[in-house]
Amino acid sequence: MIYQMTYVSKVADGVTLSDCKAIAAHSEKNNARDGVTGCLMLCDGWFLQVLEGAIGAVNRIYERIIKDPRHRYPTILGAGYQMQRNFPVWQMRLVHVRDIEAIAAVIRRYHASSAFDPISLTSESCISLLNDPMALEDSNRKGP
Ligand SMILES: Cc1cc2nc3c(=O)[nH]c(=O)nc-3n(C[C@H](O)[C@H](O)[C@H](O)COP(=O)(O)O)c2cc1C
Repeated sequence: MIYQMTYVSKVADGVTLSDCKAIAAHSEKNNARDGVTGCLMLCDGWFLQVLEGAIGAVNRIYERIIKDPRHRYPTILGAGYQMQRNFPVWQMRLVHVRDIEAIAAVIRRYHASSAFDPISLTSESCISLLNDPMALEDSNRKGP
């Protein structure tokens, strides 16, 4: 069994894409050491993150994360045990959605309205969004 936590937060003012890449790179190293995997999505001024691993390791990371001034209002969408990891090969993959319009159809799949309001996502919808091929494709596009 693996412990999984999903939360969302607002990107703090002044935090750039290169700051987010640095967060992901540093997280990859720490999480590899701690046996934690997951995904960090940057979308429309929000972070959506899934952390999965041993409960103690996930909670220790989350305690550090909530003190980090690079984001605000961290809100847990869900946490609990499950049979296997959703992101077994990613120590912390950064998925950057460049154009929210490009994934509007994806957002509508997980929301009642097309307005992007991650706080109203269930943790299951959040994980599906992070895994969505269209969101990943937008993230992989070349661009600023
Ligand atoms: C949105 C966000 C996600 C983060 N995710 C992780 C993470 O998955 N793992 C991690 O170790 N640190 C993560 N951090 C960074 C932590 O807040 C903290 O700066 C870092 O863990 C400190 O690492 P150190 O003890 O090696 O200096 C994240 C920070 C932010 C703002």
